[in-house]
Amino acid sequence: MFKELLAKRRSIRRYENREIEPDKIAALVEAALRAPSSMGTNPWRFILVSDREMLKMLSRSKEHGSSFLEGAPLGIVICADPSKSTVWIEDASIASIIIQLQAEDIGLASCWIQIRDRMHRKDKTSNQYISELLDIPEDVRVEAILAVGYPAEKKAPHPKESLDCEKVFSGKYNRPFKME
Ligand SMILES: Cc1cc2nc3c(=O)[nH]c(=O)nc-3n(C[C@H](O)[C@H](O)[C@H](O)COP(=O)(O)O)c2cc1C
Repeated sequence: MFKELLAKRRSIRRYENREIEPDKIAALVEAALRAPSSMGTNPWRFILVSDREMLKMLSRSKEHGSSFLEGAPLGIVICADPSKSTVWIEDASIASIIIQLQAEDIGLASCWIQIRDRMHRKDKTSNQYISELLDIPEDVRVEAILAVGYPAEKKAPHPKESLDCEKVFSGKYNRPFKME
């Protein structure tokens, strides 16, 4: 059930020391390529990284919030070409979440690592750092990296009662919506 898949998906940052089978990687790629994009321009580019040394270097993309990539068997670098679409950020983000949901559906876990607008260190952006490592051309931007692997930690779904229902309005702003 899609509803259960959505509830089950959590950001997982610890992974088993186990490679991901090629057919599962293919499923992730197919999901990415089926993502909708504005006017069908498909401005995204995806780089699959499984080399452990490279994953280690990518895990240093920023000071906080990326180190766990070192322990993942797969990183998917989500890029897009802004010259192809004014809404490349939306297109790249939609592809990312679709990959995450596909991962969940085949027993994998994942976590988003934000790259756009983040710094590697004071004088270098995370985008520059990654572009140098992966030979990404200057006109292509990195939105995020997805760390993917078999989960080595368990997280319960967010309980339904904890959902931010007060952020949903009915008819007009600030008119409460009651969830069944
Ligand atoms: C746009 C975006 C950026 C995120 N960036 C990071 C990040 O850089 N590092 C990280 O560890 N988690 C990151 N996350 C994961 C969030 O922290 C996580 O989704 C949130 O805490 C909710 O937890 P859940 O995904 O388990 O429901 C990001 C998530 C999104 C949607």
